[in-house]
Amino acid sequence: MNHEILPLTEHTGAEVLGVDLSGPIDVATCEDLNRAFLEYSVLVMREQNLSAAKLLDAVQIFGEVFEQHNTCFALPECPQIHYLSNQDHYANGKRYIPGAGYHTDHSNDAMPPKATILCAVELPDRGGDTQFVNMGRAYADLPDEMKARIDVLEGKHVYQSKHSTRKLMGLPVEQQEKVPKSVVHPLVRTHPETGVRSLYLNPIRIEDIIGMAEDEALPLLDGLLAHATQEKYQYRHRWRPGDLVMWDNRCLLHKANGDYPHTQTRYLYRVMLKGTAPY
Ligand code: SIN
Repeated sequence: MNHEILPLTEHTGAEVLGVDLSGPIDVATCEDLNRAFLEYSVLVMREQNLSAAKLLDAVQIFGEVFEQHNTCFALPECPQIHYLSNQDHYANGKRYIPGAGYHTDHSNDAMPPKATILCAVELPDRGGDTQFVNMGRAYADLPDEMKARIDVLEGKHVYQSKHSTRKLMGLPVEQQEKVPKSVVHPLVRTHPETGVRSLYLNPIRIEDIIGMAEDEALPLLDGLLAHATQEKYQYRHRWRPGDLVMWDNRCLLHKANGDYPHTQTRYLYRVMLKGTAPY
């Protein structure tokens, strides 16, 4: 397969042209895509238009599929694929915009997913971008005293942090038993494949810093998030029909924008790949 990999910013994201994930991928292309994933952290593959079943097959060139926690978003015909839609509502009738607010996926799992893959099915005419920030760059730029302070800290991650301003949809009863009540992860993690050290924050899931009082922990977490989400660390993805976007949850935060007319549908397929315990 002849393909091109074109960087999208100086630090994060690359566009992949000339790969058709609906068919078999040869070994050399597969290796190149996996290498590019580690180098650029976000891969944007244009003109894919995959069905849910094809998407499930295709992503396995990058790893094993992770079981997502909130099964109320599972597609009945292909339950390992979930959907993201702006057409769902909370019990109080308010519209639910999935993914609004910076986060990393499923960090309340003992082994959070290494990657998330979204495939555009229906997009609004404008807006609804996904923003990514590079947590390795953000960590590298911190002063040495701050690095020394946070290198030894651990965060407690839960399904829904009591401090989160964004409210998630509740888990179905059968999932409440399966999803861990809480897990502890380092605040700075080492990428298991590249060795790069990154901030591992999640304002939706982190409830405490172990051994630190709340009035010290919350300002520290807020300050780190404000630092890490500066525009200089960002790649902002403007969706096009047919886009498949895959990112590395081990070294990025991401968020979806709800800045489009909600009378228009934004609907994407989502699948995740298994990761390992952060260290
Ligand atoms: C997510 O947080 O997984 C959703 C991102 C998006 O919808 O752009």
